[in-house]
Amino acid sequence: MNLIEIIKQNAIRHNKRIVLPEGLEERTIKAANTAIEEGIAKITLIGNREKILEAAKNYGLKHIEKAIIVDPLKHDKKGQYIDLMVELRKNKGLTKDEASRLIENPLYLGTIMIKNGDADGEVAGAMNATGDVLRPAFQYVKTLPGITVVSGAFIMILKDKEFGEEGMFIFADCAVHPNPNDKELAEIAVATARTTKAIAGFEPRVAMLSFSTKGSARHEMCDKVISATKLAKEMAPDLKIDGELQADAAIIPSIGKSKAPESEIAGTANVLIFPTLESGNIAYKLVQRLAHAEAIGPILQGMAAPINDLSRGCSVSDIVNLIAITSNQAAGI
Ligand code: ACO
Repeated sequence: MNLIEIIKQNAIRHNKRIVLPEGLEERTIKAANTAIEEGIAKITLIGNREKILEAAKNYGLKHIEKAIIVDPLKHDKKGQYIDLMVELRKNKGLTKDEASRLIENPLYLGTIMIKNGDADGEVAGAMNATGDVLRPAFQYVKTLPGITVVSGAFIMILKDKEFGEEGMFIFADCAVHPNPNDKELAEIAVATARTTKAIAGFEPRVAMLSFSTKGSARHEMCDKVISATKLAKEMAPDLKIDGELQADAAIIPSIGKSKAPESEIAGTANVLIFPTLESGNIAYKLVQRLAHAEAIGPILQGMAAPINDLSRGCSVSDIVNLIAITSNQAAGI
């Protein structure tokens, strides 16, 4: 069984409640239908009931009637959710009027449903930009205890099985935090190691990437990675992690041995932590396109409940896969 099949089987076992705020979007409705048909999750679609059912009929989808459909403009819990929003943002001065407007936005409604215990996770982003999906999540669901920064990891599955974990790598942060400081980068490394074990199912060997290997270059950007490596070791003493390493020293055994002979992971890293979002986002897209690698994600990590953001170019199967991953995260696997 390949990794995504294992993730789907785990999702079927747990059958979590996943909310899809973009309930009127074609790929989303089709993915919801598949997720219900295969038993991957209990689905809530946000949108006008008649329009969703009409669309499902037009697309020939038979399972949408088993979804819970919540109309953002009128539903039983609207008042309760507005009060919850005002309570959660009272230190930011959110008024009832503002909350009444925000709750009609499906992306806010989805996160408030999670916060109120009415859903276990959310998948959105087929028609909304990353920032618009993440902002309500950051404001209302917030981060896990002890974590201050949310980041996005990709499982990269290469055709060439020579490097990493038999051709599999986890890359982060490729999706969220433009320029983390040393402490935030350490948190990203520790969170990514957890995601590796929980979702990809292998023991992480984490490389903190830079343009320098063990002092070969001197620059404040390398200092940040050196400090982050130290902080991550303090946060997770058992974690196999090293830095600062160049990408070749991290993943090619002979280069790892010659450039960083003392390192426990140089040359055999299977988790790559990039120093900035620029480098991580560019790297994953280049590997995906030039090496024809499968890129599963971004898997958002560090949030108090799983909320995942799709690329606007996603396919129906990308959405189904991310629903399954979100269910796995919700089950705490
Ligand atoms: N982790 C946790 N909380 C955060 C984070 C983070 N990484 N970033 C912001 N927040 C919180 C803030 O603390 C703030 O909370 P508060 O309102 O309770 O005080 C709230 O979120 C809003 O903060 P802002 O600074 O106003 O956030 P902003 O909306 O400006 O930016 C965002 C956040 C949208 C995620 C921004 O960092 C961003 O645009 N990142 C890039 C996303 C992107 O475009 N990625 C590439 C595409 S994805 C892909 O290719 C797969």
